[in-house]
Amino acid sequence: MVTASKPPAKPNKFEKYKAEKDGLSVKDEIEHFARIGWEAVDKTDLEQRLKWLGIFYRPVTPGKFMFRLRTPNGIVSSQGMRMLAEIVQRYGDDGSADITTRQNLQLRGVRLEDMPEIFRKLEAVGITSMQSGMDNVRNITGSPIAGIDGDELIDTRELVQKVQDAITNKGQGNYAFTNLPRKFNIALEGGRDNSVHAEINDIAFVPAYREGKLGFNVLVGGFFSAKRCASAIPLNAWIPPNEDVVTLSCAILSVFRDNGSRANRQKSRLMWLIDEWGIDKFRAEVETVFGKELLSAAPKDEIDWDKRDCLGVHSQKQTGYSYVGIHVPVGRFDAEGMFELARLAEVYGQGELRLTVEQNVVIPYVANENVETFLAEPILQKYSISPTPLVRSLVSCTGSQFCKFALVETKQRALEIARNLDEKLEFGDRVRIHWTGCPNSCGQPQVADIGLMGTKVRKEGKTVEGVDLYMGGTVGKDAKLGTCVRKGIPCDELPQVLEELAIEKFGATPKS
Ligand code: HEM
Ligand code: SF4
Repeated sequence: MVTASKPPAKPNKFEKYKAEKDGLSVKDEIEHFARIGWEAVDKTDLEQRLKWLGIFYRPVTPGKFMFRLRTPNGIVSSQGMRMLAEIVQRYGDDGSADITTRQNLQLRGVRLEDMPEIFRKLEAVGITSMQSGMDNVRNITGSPIAGIDGDELIDTRELVQKVQDAITNKGQGNYAFTNLPRKFNIALEGGRDNSVHAEINDIAFVPAYREGKLGFNVLVGGFFSAKRCASAIPLNAWIPPNEDVVTLSCAILSVFRDNGSRANRQKSRLMWLIDEWGIDKFRAEVETVFGKELLSAAPKDEIDWDKRDCLGVHSQKQTGYSYVGIHVPVGRFDAEGMFELARLAEVYGQGELRLTVEQNVVIPYVANENVETFLAEPILQKYSISPTPLVRSLVSCTGSQFCKFALVETKQRALEIARNLDEKLEFGDRVRIHWTGCPNSCGQPQVADIGLMGTKVRKEGKTVEGVDLYMGGTVGKDAKLGTCVRKGIPCDELPQVLEELAIEKFGATPKS
């Protein structure tokens, strides 16, 4: 077993409970927990360590857990999706699922007593939730159209799976990486449009030619937090698209695990270590663990397109086939929707669905001659392939419905405001609005054209729900983080503020 080699000078409270008992060890206790019931489970096991298995106690809905999976490269089989729909369905009105901004799925309303059976069922369809929460590596992202995009450079699917397998020991759990100083994000981009938001990952692999050979330039240290947001910076390394990706990811993780700060959790993400050491020392330490010379980076990478949202019907690399991007409003699924999309993927596609970081779904391999019948399926009235402009690009975190950190309700409000503005205004260009319920920024307001971050505001002597407004985020080739431009807008004034903003800054015009 490998664990952190350098004990922290003054460990924070998270480090204390991790040192007492590794989060992964609750894996062997899950049958016991299911038998005794959640109320009898030790508080730290319940509220913290279960997150190592993707099981999140939700203080807002005690006894109804959130269950976070891993969907490498956003890929889910139709069989897997149906199994997840069955789980959600069993919880009636409490059951739903969210597509997250890491191409992942989170199920709602799940009961602890059902977890042993759920794990058995998911194992049978090859889905794991291992190490998906707390100080672990999050879902590993890749282009949602990997392997079917005619313009792609590297098909990342197999590599993403291999990195996940190495980190989680093929979903069985890997003590080498269950005690990181903090959470960790990895992305592999194989296309030209930065579909994964490379800049906000702790490690991002982006396609680049070096001396005529195609491989990846490596970026490190990107992250968001309430206190600081940093874009990933070049490691000055290029590697071929093979096992080296796995070895290098594990080397960087090991350096972070053994040297990252465990004192102040506000200063524990990888970038803080890079700041402390400087990029040259960091690179040298990584190279030592990597075990061979790291080649210098290629002079430029191949990210030179605007970001696509993949919605609608698009020709595939494979002649005669199309992929269809389907919009799931603010990423919220019910069981019926999951069953239906699984069925569509099976009847029209090859039994596979892809999730996107915009919280939508792609169904690949629809034969061109079947596209028309596909588009006439009733579920596409609810999950459209061509939603109205603002709704189309809307992204939202969970908000107060399920999250205890939230200062405002997000998803419903986001949709309502976007729908109303779409009715009133004509938009030329795409306007991407991202909502996040609190400064933790899970909804990534900093990458949006208009970012809205929940806050509390005083209005007429009362405390009401409001937002801070972020602007200037860009995605794609020259991705840049937006900043806060206005604070404390009460939510009831927001429709008016956004309408004016859309007209003044984004060229929207009132519909006649
Ligand atoms: C201390 C800081 C943070 C805390 C306490 C926090 C907390 C949470 C919680 C409680 C959830 C689950 C809510 C639910 O759906 O019930 C969540 C989900 C999520 N958060 Fe955060 N968060 C933090 C920072 C961030 C940051 C900086 C990002 C990246 C921009 C982020 C990205 C996400 C994503 C993508 C999800 C959905 C699950 C996934 O796909 O992994 N979070 N976060
Ligand atoms: S941004 Fe805040 S409210 Fe939204 S999911 Fe993250 S922690 Fe919860």
